[in-house]
Amino acid sequence: MQFDAPAGSNIFDDARIVGKSTPRIDGPNKVTGTAPYAYERHDVVADQAYGWIVGAGIAKGRITSMELTAAKAAPGVIAIVTAPDTQPVGKGMDNHAPLFGGSEITHYHQAIACVVAETFEQARAAAALIDTNYDRSTGSFDFDAVRASAPRSGEAETLGDFETAFAEAAVQIDETYTTPGQTHAMMEPLATIAAWDGDKLTLWTSNQMITWAKESLGDILGIDSANVRVDSPYVGGGFGGKLFIRADAVLAALASKAAKRPVKIMMQRPLVANNATHRQATHQRIRLGARMDGHITALSHQNWSYNVEGASGETATAQTAKVYAGANRLTAEYCATLDLPEGNAMRAPGEAVGHLALEVAMDELAEALGMDPIELRVVNEPDAVPGNPGKRFSDRNLVRCLREGADRFGWSERSATPAARREGRWLFGVGVAAGYRGAPTCKSGARVHLADGRIVVETDMTDIGTGTYTIIAQTAAEMMGVPLDHVTVTLGDSSFPASAGSGGQWGATSSTAGVYAACVALRRQIGEVLGFDADDARFEDGSIVAANKAFRLADAGTLSAEDTIRFGKFKKDYDVATYAGHFCEVAVDAYTGETHIRRMLAVCDAGRILNPLSARSQVIGAMVMAAGAALTEELTVDTRFGCFVNHDLAGYEVPVHADIPHQEVIFLDTLDEIVSPMKAKGVGELGICGPGAAIANAIYNATGIRVRDYPLTLDKYL
Ligand code: MOS
Repeated sequence: MQFDAPAGSNIFDDARIVGKSTPRIDGPNKVTGTAPYAYERHDVVADQAYGWIVGAGIAKGRITSMELTAAKAAPGVIAIVTAPDTQPVGKGMDNHAPLFGGSEITHYHQAIACVVAETFEQARAAAALIDTNYDRSTGSFDFDAVRASAPRSGEAETLGDFETAFAEAAVQIDETYTTPGQTHAMMEPLATIAAWDGDKLTLWTSNQMITWAKESLGDILGIDSANVRVDSPYVGGGFGGKLFIRADAVLAALASKAAKRPVKIMMQRPLVANNATHRQATHQRIRLGARMDGHITALSHQNWSYNVEGASGETATAQTAKVYAGANRLTAEYCATLDLPEGNAMRAPGEAVGHLALEVAMDELAEALGMDPIELRVVNEPDAVPGNPGKRFSDRNLVRCLREGADRFGWSERSATPAARREGRWLFGVGVAAGYRGAPTCKSGARVHLADGRIVVETDMTDIGTGTYTIIAQTAAEMMGVPLDHVTVTLGDSSFPASAGSGGQWGATSSTAGVYAACVALRRQIGEVLGFDADDARFEDGSIVAANKAFRLADAGTLSAEDTIRFGKFKKDYDVATYAGHFCEVAVDAYTGETHIRRMLAVCDAGRILNPLSARSQVIGAMVMAAGAALTEELTVDTRFGCFVNHDLAGYEVPVHADIPHQEVIFLDTLDEIVSPMKAKGVGELGICGPGAAIANAIYNATGIRVRDYPLTLDKYL
């Protein structure tokens, strides 16, 4: 089915199931241990052996020798796989540092061997007996040292004459903000079971994008991807770290071949930060020039980041072109090449840290103007995409988000003067930030079966903890007129139709639209069998009413339909995005500088909310991650050895329950006619765009101290 906006009226306009808060149907499985994650799939194939990944002990150089004799002789060892001396293995789709290093090491903890044994403990013990010698070369690991000479990546975006307008502006802000590297820190590490059957390979793994995984594996292993099956029904978090296959998948495939047995590998937690991908550090300079009435006349955002050779940086300017009006603009990205591990997508790549700078700069501008920060944002609301008057916003309600949030949060009680509210040792402050995150859509396929009046949905879409099972079941139930418990959803298997997958907050609207398309096809088949015009029929409670005649769904027998939704080119005329108003109140200890978040509020504008309950969980989770980015999370680089030293959950500090006492999420009742037949947009990344800046602004409001170097740890306030 081709979707050409606007969506117009459709079945979802008077939906009874879609749009209702629905507990996740996989919830009971998750809390009773019956939702198996990749490493727990003991039953899918017999005779599983255990693999242990050996990571390089240097960041750059070559292996001069690897002594395997003792390891090979260790109890239970079946095989040891080391990378071939020739070509690096594992440059696949969108990964630039080989997943399996060898003669050349290109980053710390890059996989250099895999030990396979009868038990996990035996594999681990044998791996410790491998004696590897290296010839270490000098690497470049220090972002600050190379940043200034980083080349521009991509074209700078310019509009009008920024420099002149900035120089002439009545009020000017010129500040620099820095964000550190961050790791995804998902609960379930990367894990894979691999098994060969002749030249056919099956991987039970944990992955966000099944079709990409299948194609990548074909490329990397030099086999026809048609011979690869990937299965990933439950994913314990991904945040972008599982968009692309990683070393666990490649090594499990190679080790299984060598061991002539199925092999399971869980990437050890201390390996994840350096072996897999991370969000790179940024250094962002923002200049804002405005008239005394608050109108921005000059807006510049320059961002410096880094990556391995050939890959792009963390693109923190992504939102800046879209959020605020302003006639004279300059945005540019610069990317240095470093020998650190590869940087790649992490939840709202670019925007998540871009907001940490832009939305604090807006707070600084509001203060310089003596203006309320919400009013400043309202004054600078654009009518069309800045610099592109032909391009409209599909549905934009940012001002409503800010105004409704202000009401709910009690914004009017804010003291415009910082450090004015104190009770005992605690200083109190509130902050606001706007949130913008694009809402892309990708083609998405599904198959639906009807038997005995029940529906089974098959698609390779994934549920990364987001609630996909539930929103797909809701969509199919609505379309076919059956109760929710008459729908079974099966996900994550590459033998099912290719879906949009879970990434870039495109999954919810795209995958449900694909299910909608397949259900339209199934309804037409049912109409042909029972003799009615399906496009003019009402499917409800297991029956169908068409042209004043009633039919029973169960009488249609056993039928199957498959379709893929494709999105028209109309999107080039629209910027399709989601918006939020983020609010936060903090208390800061006047003596120790310790920050406590007291409450957070997000008011979100994301079109139809398919399942308010699971959408709320998405936003809450993202707000927690934003709190981590603002206050605690930081990959610390050892610039001598080229590694992240705090590469486990003991040293990399993520927020815990006690850090987040109260969160509230409100969704505006909007519909986006342009995005998809669902009129819905994603929220999983919107929720991390802005709250960190709201926290930073609240700390400033509490203390009168502006720290621009994230995370905002207490030492920086003393
Ligand atoms: Mo997202 S960073 O595209 O999983």
